[in-house]
Amino acid sequence: MLTEKLAQACPDLCIDTDPDVLQSHGRDWTRFREPQPAAVVFPANLRQVVKLVKAARQLELALVPSGGRTGLSGGAVAAHGEVVVAMDRMRRVLEFDPVDRLLTVEAGTVTAAVQSFARERDLFYPVSFAAEGSASIGGNIATTAGGIRVLRYGLTRDRVAGLKAVDGRGRVLELNRGLVKNASGYDLRHLLIGSEGTLAIIVEATLRLEPTPPPSAVLLLGVTSMPVILDLMAELRKGFSLSACEFFSAEAMHMVCKARALRQPMDSDPPFYLLVEFDLPSEQSEALLERAAAVLEYAIERGWAVDAVLAQSQLQASELWAYREGISEAASAHTPYKNDLSVRLSRMPAFLSALEEATRRSFPQFQVLWYGHVGDGNLHMNVLKPADLDTVEFERMCKELSREHYELTARFGGSISAEHGIGLLKRAFLAQARSEAEIALMRGIKQVFDPDGILNPGKLL
Ligand code: MLT
Ligand code: ZN
Repeated sequence: MLTEKLAQACPDLCIDTDPDVLQSHGRDWTRFREPQPAAVVFPANLRQVVKLVKAARQLELALVPSGGRTGLSGGAVAAHGEVVVAMDRMRRVLEFDPVDRLLTVEAGTVTAAVQSFARERDLFYPVSFAAEGSASIGGNIATTAGGIRVLRYGLTRDRVAGLKAVDGRGRVLELNRGLVKNASGYDLRHLLIGSEGTLAIIVEATLRLEPTPPPSAVLLLGVTSMPVILDLMAELRKGFSLSACEFFSAEAMHMVCKARALRQPMDSDPPFYLLVEFDLPSEQSEALLERAAAVLEYAIERGWAVDAVLAQSQLQASELWAYREGISEAASAHTPYKNDLSVRLSRMPAFLSALEEATRRSFPQFQVLWYGHVGDGNLHMNVLKPADLDTVEFERMCKELSREHYELTARFGGSISAEHGIGLLKRAFLAQARSEAEIALMRGIKQVFDPDGILNPGKLL
């Protein structure tokens, strides 16, 4: 009925109620809620988005913005009769300026397409993560996606030079317009980045591209414990310009090898792996490779590392990366309860041990998969569902465990979401992560942007 009214109000809008489309577009990569949207709409341009928001206000329809649906916190899940606003038809490149090195795209543009566009023009879009082949720029901005190159290039937030968005009243906001300097009051662009579709629907983004980085080397080290990863990183940072620094556990390695039918890269089976990428400009390559061998020798002498593989070709570099990038997909078969935590680097080893101990004490039957962006303090702690445990019961137990984990996170001065967002799954814990005053201000901001609460209700706040 409501869908018919929406069709009357927006006659040129593509509205789909096919059960398969409702299923596929009403969810993200999380598997803890069943999708139940009333409809999925596919706007083709800004004008249609404005009309849709105005109609939704009148009809009291909740709108769930949806990009590549690769989210991991349920931010794009429509489980309560909402209308999903899928950006699949808004994937155009709108403008490119080589002088400014700025690229303007529609929000549904896939992250990998932006990377390719930049590469073809001898430029570089550095935000990179395993889901980049499906994730959209709008979704990246909604959660300020991080990934593997934050160490050098920062987050999606640091890429966004301008935004066009439609707020909950249907007003078009054109924010920052690609400027580098702009001290003319509050920077609303930064409020929208990371707001998970609760303040406005992002329609276009102007992204800052970078010069092509120099050639690089990829080194995988088998390491003996978590604390020595920091020692190793400190050594590596002295002589190399690192562009990525990732870690994962032996269990994660085993899981990827099984899922992708890969051979383990080393004969030994160390408890942790450290994967680093560093610049290797051709004129310095000999000296740098000698230095890498010396660091490795030193690390083995000190008992930090047991083995290492240095990629000898581009192909081998991607093979080494596959061990890290395949983890999320390999783990998905185990309905993982994902914790996306961050702390200051120096506190990471003690934080990881404390989390491990709390899990072992309260739920010894749970297997935990550790991996993450160790270079920037981001730990992905995936609790795997035992095969014989019901999903609802598993989620309940994980939430109980999360209370403990998030208390520890607060004690270590960390964050309960580094890059996946709060969405639906972490909403109940926001008060553990942010102060009462902060949450009150967030609610106030939400009220200003979206007075009727039609934009992604029930997410984040
Ligand atoms: C990753 O680092 O692999 C992504 O954030 C996805 C995940 O955490 O599973
Ligand atoms: Zn990650």
